[in-house]
Amino acid sequence: MTVSVPTLPFNDGHAMPSLGFGVYQLGEAEAPDIVGRAIRAGYRAIDTAAIYGNEAGVGRTIRGAEVARSDLFVTTKVWNDAQGRDATLRACDASLGKLGLPHVDLYLIHWPCPERKLFVETWRALIELREAGRVRSIGVSNFTEDHLERIVGETGVVPALNQIELHPHFQQASLRAVHDRLGIVTESWSPLGQGRELDDPVLAAIGAAHGRSPAQVALRWHVQGGLIAIPKTATPARIAENIAVFDFTLTPDEMAGIAALDRPGGRIGPDPETFG
Ligand SMILES: NC(=O)c1ccc[n+]([C@@H]2O[C@H](COP(=O)([O-])OP(=O)(O)OC[C@H]3O[C@@H](n4cnc5c(N)ncnc54)[C@H](OP(=O)(O)O)[C@@H]3O)[C@@H](O)[C@H]2O)c1
Repeated sequence: MTVSVPTLPFNDGHAMPSLGFGVYQLGEAEAPDIVGRAIRAGYRAIDTAAIYGNEAGVGRTIRGAEVARSDLFVTTKVWNDAQGRDATLRACDASLGKLGLPHVDLYLIHWPCPERKLFVETWRALIELREAGRVRSIGVSNFTEDHLERIVGETGVVPALNQIELHPHFQQASLRAVHDRLGIVTESWSPLGQGRELDDPVLAAIGAAHGRSPAQVALRWHVQGGLIAIPKTATPARIAENIAVFDFTLTPDEMAGIAALDRPGGRIGPDPETFG
């Protein structure tokens, strides 16, 4: 069965499906089969990055899909070593070349890398790329409030989206409030806590009440809370499982129960203030 995924509007007039498919750690060889299965299951947004090393395989699948390119939403990201104006323009060209696409729907700065002192210049390059039609929408990833204020203050251009680590044990309430204030969509990376949170008894109990898995409860919590989630799986059965979250609703009590799972030490990935 093909699931239909609702979209969320950006501040630039474009929109993106609220659930997409992440392809981090999918090898170039396995990516085409897995991404093809995802598209057939109903995923319309694919999240890759230059550093994932699978843009060519992802692009081949997108170009060969039975779904029209205009119905698919492709995100890729500029890696840390390509920050700075000229390097970023070259990196975007290289990504589009590997994908075999004239444009992507969303181009992100992968990490701010504050010690490199290049993220404002890199943001200006993304603005250039958008004006040139190489990318439809532009955004960032792993930016903190300070980084967001810097780029908005210096360029006047607000990112469409900030892709950040976010899952039931690490909910990022204060950064989400900043996004709401600035008009930035929040996208959750590692929305399942890389699978490590799925044995949480609260998720299991809520799942049992709905006849759903803990992963489905977690993903429903993301989309019901106005977030975009991009779960990754290389397991065919889980591709269908993870998108089947639009035909049930969590009660306010269940949403509050998951809100209470937030933990101060819940971060799994690197700290954006020091990484890169
Ligand atoms: N911007 C950034 O810095 C950044 C960083 C990290 C990730 N991301 C993006 O976010 C995407 C998702 O993050 P992620 O891959 O780190 O973590 P994730 O999606 O939270 O979790 C993926 C893990 O959970 C397992 N899993 C998936 N569905 C499951 C299910 N229904 N039941 C049980 N286990 C399940 C997967 O196993 P199997 O594959 O074996 O099924 C895999 O080990 C990435 O692919 C990437 O696109 C971005």
